[in-house]
Amino acid sequence: MNDMLKNREPFDIEGHADYGTSYARPKQEGVDTTHGAILYLEDITVSFDGFKALNKLTLDISVGELRCIIGPNGAGKTTMMDVITGKTRPTSGTAFFGQTMDLTTMAEYQIAHAGIGRKFQRPTVFEQHTVFENLELAMKMDKRVKPTLFFKLTSEQKGRIDDILKLVRLNGQEHRLAGLLSHGQKQWLEIGMLLMQEPQLLLLDEPVAGMSDAETARTAELLNELRGKHSIMVVEHDMAFVTEIARDGKVTVLHEGSVLAEGGMQQVQADERVIEVYLGR
Ligand SMILES: Nc1ncnc2c1ncn2[C@@H]1O[C@H](COP(=O)(O)OP(=O)(O)O)[C@@H](O)[C@H]1O
Ligand SMILES: [Mg+2]
Repeated sequence: MNDMLKNREPFDIEGHADYGTSYARPKQEGVDTTHGAILYLEDITVSFDGFKALNKLTLDISVGELRCIIGPNGAGKTTMMDVITGKTRPTSGTAFFGQTMDLTTMAEYQIAHAGIGRKFQRPTVFEQHTVFENLELAMKMDKRVKPTLFFKLTSEQKGRIDDILKLVRLNGQEHRLAGLLSHGQKQWLEIGMLLMQEPQLLLLDEPVAGMSDAETARTAELLNELRGKHSIMVVEHDMAFVTEIARDGKVTVLHEGSVLAEGGMQQVQADERVIEVYLGR
């Protein structure tokens, strides 16, 4: 496998445009969360030719919280993640990671390095590599690990990969090519790759879209295991899944670029405005 790695082109650690995922980072030494919020969005507006995809959106996430975001298509959920990760600049408003990091002034790679990991809707694993190699590569893209490509894994690092394999339900699959995994397994692998970077805030955009019911249930278990270890924002349409992971936590309903409702699952499900625009009758 080391030969194979030597033959690879160096990774574009900064951009990852081809892979669509911010694998490039790790820890978050610099994140000051003394006031309890890991993310604070205030009055964020994003205009595309006058159309407001986000309209004075204000939302905050506490350290260790698992927040579910729901809302109809076009509500601005993905655009919100684009703002948080620096892919889209807001027209106005502020976005803070912890107390001090102003995300609106940071480049995408800096935001990834600061500890925000993002999973896009479609899986973006390295299909020609095994499951294990994918996790190893994710580790090697971690800038804390030097030198990046040609080092041997320590037993501690191998142990970490084993832990992640178990967590994402891929132990026993580590020598399979990622391209041969089911859609759901690819999604889990990608979550595992993000976890290798130990993100402080994990953004998951529709993680169970296209999954079988069994895979969806296992993904809910996985997220429940991650609860409290990372701050997590999950955008999802599958209400059974959201109910499963929301537990006693807050659910935020986005509509037309702003927060329409926020509260416990039962509370938002009973909200007339939410029923009107999203849940239907
Ligand atoms: N780059 C863009 N240019 C123009 N309009 C956009 C762009 N990105 C998103 N939009 C529009 O902004 C709105 C919100 O989109 P999006 O954030 O993808 O919604 P969601 O993820 O909630 O379905 C949609 O009406 C969409 O068409
Ligand atoms: Mg979307």
